[in-house]
Amino acid sequence: MQKLWGLAFSNPVGMAAGFDKSARVFGPLLDMGLGFVEVGTLTPKPQRGNPAPRIFRSAADGAIINRLGFNNEGQDAALRRLGVAGSGIVGVNIGAGRESEDRGGDYVEGIARMSAVADYLTINISSPNTPGLRDLQVPDALDALLARVGKARGEQGKRPPLLVKLAPDIADDDLPAIVGVIEARGVDGIVVSNTTLARDGVGDRAFAAEAGGLSGRPLFIRATRMLARIYRLTEGKLPLIGVGGIDSGETALAKIRAGASLVQLYTGLVFQGPKLIGDIKQALVKAMQEAKVENMTTLIGRDADRWANRPLKGATS
Ligand SMILES: Cc1cc2nc3c(=O)[nH]c(=O)nc-3n(C[C@H](O)[C@H](O)[C@H](O)COP(=O)(O)O)c2cc1C
Repeated sequence: MQKLWGLAFSNPVGMAAGFDKSARVFGPLLDMGLGFVEVGTLTPKPQRGNPAPRIFRSAADGAIINRLGFNNEGQDAALRRLGVAGSGIVGVNIGAGRESEDRGGDYVEGIARMSAVADYLTINISSPNTPGLRDLQVPDALDALLARVGKARGEQGKRPPLLVKLAPDIADDDLPAIVGVIEARGVDGIVVSNTTLARDGVGDRAFAAEAGGLSGRPLFIRATRMLARIYRLTEGKLPLIGVGGIDSGETALAKIRAGASLVQLYTGLVFQGPKLIGDIKQALVKAMQEAKVENMTTLIGRDADRWANRPLKGATS
């Protein structure tokens, strides 16, 4: 059990955003033994996303490339489902519509609509499949966005914790300014990370040539390294959710040791099925016993220095 932002997490393993885009199956996912589920990305209006084919798998690489483009039924539909009281922690990931002329306004709408039913909110400014969305990560744009979002939060009756989800393709040199803005604007946590546009570590050439965001095993080092860098920049003070390439107890533990308070997964579950959840939880308990610690939180960030300094090029596992 871990308490974060006033929420009691029964275990630190969560479902990453994008699986339950329209908040249809968070109940069954929680019943599978996950400690929390992040639904979405939800945009203010329903949208169909990009034409198919738009999801590609490489079993040999343990990877997926997707260019879904925020297909979802919209926030109103999700709101009705989330409004029915249930047990378990459900975060709501919000985004901007593809055709929106005021992207910041879409996030403000998301905050206004979804705060009442969200255990936490994640602002997704890191999908590679909505053209220009990642521009919101540029410090000045991010600061303006978080100012608007902060004002909208202040106007809600319920004020769930607010997280920002970042892309793993941010250059090392750009990271301090971005994290600085996030801290200055009082954001409660960071989700590290979304899918990557990079293709390092991908063996299957035809697969690698597909446009979209890459997830799974080839993302692991890139995302874990950035997680550790953010852990160091925030001096361990901001809770981080580590996501990207977790496919075993070992990789989940590595995320925690690199600086994650919680972890999420998606691609690993696609290839391995729900057994992976139990395997990870068992491995974490074993790691605690071996390290002779009562609480998993003691392990958070222990390897952050090593991970932060790891070279990026050429490394895949
Ligand atoms: C098919 C698919 C759809 C996704 N859709 C979303 C999404 O709507 N919003 C979001 O923030 N992340 C989305 N993601 C990214 C995941 O939440 C996660 O950050 C990424 O896949 C890395 O984790 P993994 O390697 O365990 O899959 C999606 C990933 C996949 C594979």
